[in-house]
Amino acid sequence: MSILVNEAQRIFHLQNEYISYVMMVLPNGQLGQLYFGRKIHHRDNFDYLLEGSLRSHSALVPGVDRLFSLEHVKQEYPSYGNGDFRQGAVEILQGNGSRISHLVYEGYEIQAGKPSLPGLPATYVEDPSEAETLSVFLRDPLTQVVVTMLYTIYRDRSVLTRSVKIANQGEASVQVERAMSLCLDLPDADYEWMQFSGSWSRERFPVLRKLEIGIQAIESLRGHSSHQQNPFIILKRPSADEFSGEVMGFSLVYSGNFLAMAQVDTYDVTRVLMGIHPERFSWKLETGESFQTPEVVIGFSENGLNGLSQTFHDLYRKRLARGVWRDQARPILINNWEATYFDFNEEKLLKIASKAKSCGVELFVLDDGWFGARRMDNAGLGDWVPSLDLLPEGIRGLSEKVEALGMKFGLWIEPEMVNPDSDLYRAHPDWALHVPGRDSSLSRNQLVLDFSRPEVVDYIHGMIAKVIRESKISYIKWDMNRSITDCFNESLPADRQGEVFHRYILGVYDLYERLIREFPHILFESCAGGGARFDAGMLYYAPQAWTSDDTDAMERLKIQYGTSYGYPIVSMGSHVSAVPNHQVNRITPLKTRAEVAYFGTYGYELDLNKLTEEEQEEVRCYTQFMKDHRELIQFGTFYRLQSPFEKNEAAWMVVSEDRKEALVGSYRQLAKVNIGFSRLYLQGLDPDQLYEVDGQDRYYGDELMNAGLITSDASSCKVGEDVKPAYDFASRIYRIKAVD
Ligand code: DGJ
Repeated sequence: MSILVNEAQRIFHLQNEYISYVMMVLPNGQLGQLYFGRKIHHRDNFDYLLEGSLRSHSALVPGVDRLFSLEHVKQEYPSYGNGDFRQGAVEILQGNGSRISHLVYEGYEIQAGKPSLPGLPATYVEDPSEAETLSVFLRDPLTQVVVTMLYTIYRDRSVLTRSVKIANQGEASVQVERAMSLCLDLPDADYEWMQFSGSWSRERFPVLRKLEIGIQAIESLRGHSSHQQNPFIILKRPSADEFSGEVMGFSLVYSGNFLAMAQVDTYDVTRVLMGIHPERFSWKLETGESFQTPEVVIGFSENGLNGLSQTFHDLYRKRLARGVWRDQARPILINNWEATYFDFNEEKLLKIASKAKSCGVELFVLDDGWFGARRMDNAGLGDWVPSLDLLPEGIRGLSEKVEALGMKFGLWIEPEMVNPDSDLYRAHPDWALHVPGRDSSLSRNQLVLDFSRPEVVDYIHGMIAKVIRESKISYIKWDMNRSITDCFNESLPADRQGEVFHRYILGVYDLYERLIREFPHILFESCAGGGARFDAGMLYYAPQAWTSDDTDAMERLKIQYGTSYGYPIVSMGSHVSAVPNHQVNRITPLKTRAEVAYFGTYGYELDLNKLTEEEQEEVRCYTQFMKDHRELIQFGTFYRLQSPFEKNEAAWMVVSEDRKEALVGSYRQLAKVNIGFSRLYLQGLDPDQLYEVDGQDRYYGDELMNAGLITSDASSCKVGEDVKPAYDFASRIYRIKAVD
């Protein structure tokens, strides 16, 4: 890895074994983009990549050659208004009303390692030799606004990270109206765009379309990253597939409002922009103040979508997630939500816990309803005091009793919210986000606490930390069950109201940081009405996230498959739930429910007492299977093999780092009769290694990958008395083990 600089030509080349990123200072002093992609040789001068052309009607730059126009040139941090008519990356409102900036190169600095971003989540290094960081300084000579462009290249990863700091060194205050984390101008538009979209209970379904002239964008203006869109996009060459071809991914390490956009101009240049959504955002900078944007991680792969996903999985697992749980296989838990909803007492909970214990479960999680007057979802949020009528000895007593059973204890919280019917709201109605003189909108009977106010965060911290300190808590599920409306902070002046959304999420990060520092042993799982905040920002604080409120195995196949494009398997909360399923009423086999949930953190979301003895025995086997294989599943290399969005059959697999072991999950949505033959072409095995499949047949790795694993189901070819008919929602796990 290296950052090579040609000082005379003012050219920067960030390079490692996989990628090259080349920039140069343009003739007008701005920073220009020359190349991003597969590693290329270094040469002293790359200025041939700066294409000029004399085009009619272009706006020219005073004093610069007529071939040069900001309208065509590829830039690193453009602002709209002085010749570039595309979407800008930065907009700074000045005292006289002008929004035009001219950011001129001033210098650079290179440092070993990677600096952290104050108050924000970001990828990191454990040793400075893992990465190098380039800071390029740009200054607007008129306003004295200084922009620091931060670029980190990792030594052993096909990624580059970027973020931007904007500092006001002028004498007058300015208003930052747009501060994207990333602008990347690519020299052609021959890409397909992939986004991950959905809604509550159907999060992150891949959507693919060809890039076209104009703007394609996804966004969230909900105050959280959202069920609807995810702050992760992919640009792939049309010929690229899961296993080969060039793809790049852009992941925003942030959990609030965002915009991700590709603008293709009529000269076939593609501009990718990503960052905090400029809508409803502005940030006032007084003299001497600065603003730091969140980070964007750009991943690149020549090995198709799986290659890209593996790059993100490894980075996020090892250098985004933190804490003692980062490298540990996750405990198998049981959560009482779908087992009881709000209808529980201590006796009922202990019955569920002790049956789970007898089935090998390691952690009991008490979900919503344990505090204040929270008997339904219309009261009590904000009052983080255990309800003694349900739990006579509070959370302390219950947690001790669960530990006495030989299990760990976990607790649900929703710290950002308040019900109007709560002691907290009655005491501090002004602490909920609201616009004076207007009625606030309710969602799930709740309002959003104003986490942009430090005193609110302090108060909630005090309440939650007290419960944790008094009890034996090993796990916290942090929920967030509504989008933000009425986003107004009464204690801020009018010209700072555009800061509230971002200050809110900084408040959330602050509370997380305080809790994880004070209670480093706790495993945090983030949640937002299922998967509405499944983003890279959250993974910095909580190494796992509840993937979706939809726990049906067939639905989960799709949700987990879609989520795997950007996020590691170990980060996906996945549980076996009851049938008929509570979301879709579907009855799927217990085995299939387990075999889908294996590919995640694995747990249960039902009352195991309600299963037959036989089913409980089955559950014991599944729990044991997960215990035996969780290291492989959660820390192995994951491959998507067959998409449930494309076919009736779906498949994925994980391979251990040493390629000695693999597990293949194969699923069929609906039973069909007399169907064609089928094979799965496995991935990632050692071609010369002999493997045993399910302890029986032996094949070489190259056979399993090229000739394929035969998965044809003989029973579906014939209907008759002697043949067991195929059934819906079937699954099968294949265990592949190297033979010495
Ligand atoms: C939404 C979560 O996604 C569920 O798992 C559950 O915790 C409920 N909230 C509780 O209100």
